[in-house]
Amino acid sequence: MRKRIRSYLSTRRSFLRGGLAAPAVVGAGLMANALPAAADFDFDDRPTHGDINILRFLAALEILETDLWQQYNELGGIQDSEVPGGSGNKPYTDLLEEIDEDMPQYIHDNTEDEFTHFNFINAYLKSKGAEPVNLERFRTLTGSTAPGAQNIKRLTNLMELTVDTTWWARYRSRTGNPDFGDKFAAVIPGLLKGKFPAIPRSEKDLTPPDHLLAIVNTAAFHFGTIEQGGSSLYPALAQRVSSIEVLRILLSIGPTETMHFQVWHDKAGNIKPVTDPTNGLVFPDLGTFDGNEDLQANLIMPEPTIFLSRSLPVCSIIRPTETRGAAAGAVAALTADGLFRGQSAAFFAELNELAAKADMAQRRV
Ligand SMILES: [Fe+2]
Ligand SMILES: [Fe+2]
Repeated sequence: MRKRIRSYLSTRRSFLRGGLAAPAVVGAGLMANALPAAADFDFDDRPTHGDINILRFLAALEILETDLWQQYNELGGIQDSEVPGGSGNKPYTDLLEEIDEDMPQYIHDNTEDEFTHFNFINAYLKSKGAEPVNLERFRTLTGSTAPGAQNIKRLTNLMELTVDTTWWARYRSRTGNPDFGDKFAAVIPGLLKGKFPAIPRSEKDLTPPDHLLAIVNTAAFHFGTIEQGGSSLYPALAQRVSSIEVLRILLSIGPTETMHFQVWHDKAGNIKPVTDPTNGLVFPDLGTFDGNEDLQANLIMPEPTIFLSRSLPVCSIIRPTETRGAAAGAVAALTADGLFRGQSAAFFAELNELAAKADMAQRRV
């Protein structure tokens, strides 16, 4: 790495030595633009095998994210040509709008973003002569039959979720960090004790009203669960990328996951308390947590916490960002959430292999 920087500096020096009086001949704008893009560096910035494996794993996860967001959008998002497919489900959408009237817009935009993430990464892989990721052979799961949903097979299952909401306390803790092995309580403990739909499975789920409200609340928390995962995964994997251009891809997509997470974190705080009369799932009144800084709903900015070493000052950070085993950890978390319930052994084998290869990637030195 040091050698590359030297060679770039020497190129710059010889340019300046060449007799051009920089201030007079080169305008300020051109000087600013004279800093090369990664692709223009006079060293080999080609993605390594490790980079390709990290990108292939990310492409797979983005395909899976797209599949789940597509299902949310068909029933609860804005229906338009940017994200075609469904026709909307009014009772489900109406309850989402009670959380925030812009929920359908946010669901739509998050869905569109996921499409662009996997399309871009796959196209980039192809442009580098690498194999893009295709999971279509695993599109085997039966989806919702509620009005508004497309009648197509799915990659992910939103109808038997065991949603982990520990991120709520994790981002409020001033003393804990999962990278130090710390554990956090779930703000909605009931969601860890069963299999719950986050979309109406059929027309039958549209009543009674408190059942549908619990389904909407499950979705509201699942949105944050998904996007906080992406917020951690990108910085975790970026630490083992070699190509500056590939690093730029991870550093440019990752924060959009965090932008999504921040919105969903805020919106989840608006859910109405309810007990689902069909299965006993309880959503507490989040207002009762006011004054309890570990759970208070409006504390949606990451609280500063320990980072790297307990002897350093606390810092407001994404957490976790440990790079070792990050890809396998992401697969394990999504699997534990029930997102892949019903998927084949071949699907898990493929996903685990993609993750294992990504986790073996080493930074080029
Ligand atoms: Fe994404
Ligand atoms: Fe995402």
